[in-house]
Amino acid sequence: MKLAIAGKGGSGKTSISGTMARVLGRNGHRVLAIDGDSNPNLALTLGIPAERINDVPTLPRDLLRRGANGPELTKTFEEVRSSHSLEGPDNTTLLVMAHPAPEEAGTGCLCSMHATVRTLIGASGDEPQDVTILDTEASPEHLTRGTTLYTELMLTVVEPYFKSLETGRRMAGLAGDLGIERIVLVANKVRDERELEAVREFADKHELEVAGVIPFDDRMRVAEQAGRAPLDLGDGSPAVDAIEELAMRLVTESKASANGAAGNGAAH
Ligand SMILES: Nc1ncnc2c1ncn2[C@@H]1O[C@H](COP(=O)(O)OP(=O)(O)O)[C@@H](O)[C@H]1O
Ligand SMILES: [Mg+2]
Repeated sequence: MKLAIAGKGGSGKTSISGTMARVLGRNGHRVLAIDGDSNPNLALTLGIPAERINDVPTLPRDLLRRGANGPELTKTFEEVRSSHSLEGPDNTTLLVMAHPAPEEAGTGCLCSMHATVRTLIGASGDEPQDVTILDTEASPEHLTRGTTLYTELMLTVVEPYFKSLETGRRMAGLAGDLGIERIVLVANKVRDERELEAVREFADKHELEVAGVIPFDDRMRVAEQAGRAPLDLGDGSPAVDAIEELAMRLVTESKASANGAAGNGAAH
């Protein structure tokens, strides 16, 4: 399963990406988590301690060459995975698009890195146990640059207020233009029925599916302040439980849809 996580800044993309990566890794998947934010911070949510963050290898700019069918990697995917990523807990691997993060203004754009990540996602494994998760930045860069082209699923994280929902709707539209197979909303930081109803109403109006609902849970902030993964805080978190349930359901649905497609293929 290859998925991208999009949404407005602060909606919870990184919290959800990192937690999903960990729970899927724990459940036997081989997970590649890609931090696509130009200001990367997925490592902490994944549970990689702050002192190891500088060990994240820089993704070189010369990993692509022009091939017969467009850009291709100059190394195999597995070579890139083993030499340019960092092992995280629970069978996860972290790859950071912009490391070290650009520190000076006017030092150029990250276009080539977007192209590299796009090609890497295309080349990443698609066996049933493989999961690739792209945590995107708040701007629609990953969509307008087509970085998410080879993902089959996009989760658009929304908070239950209008600007967040509206940003989610716009991003879902761009993802649709890219031809991403399944685009869904995930409502995050939901405090009560009334907020959930507001999300559902917006989704119905715009014919969007709400695939998951994650409650507001202060443990997410507490984990962040402690520099830990929400999953590593222990003693239970309703948000982590909801993310786990969503991740497992999405994998099951993705397998069912792949089997369905294979079945259809065989019938023709
Ligand atoms: N379900 C939740 N309940 C409460 N706080 C949350 C929840 N999900 C995320 N947060 C908090 O919201 C803030 C933004 O989350 P983050 O994942 O960094 O968002 P993004 O990657 O979209 O910018 C963080 O402080 C995080 O701890
Ligand atoms: Mg983020």
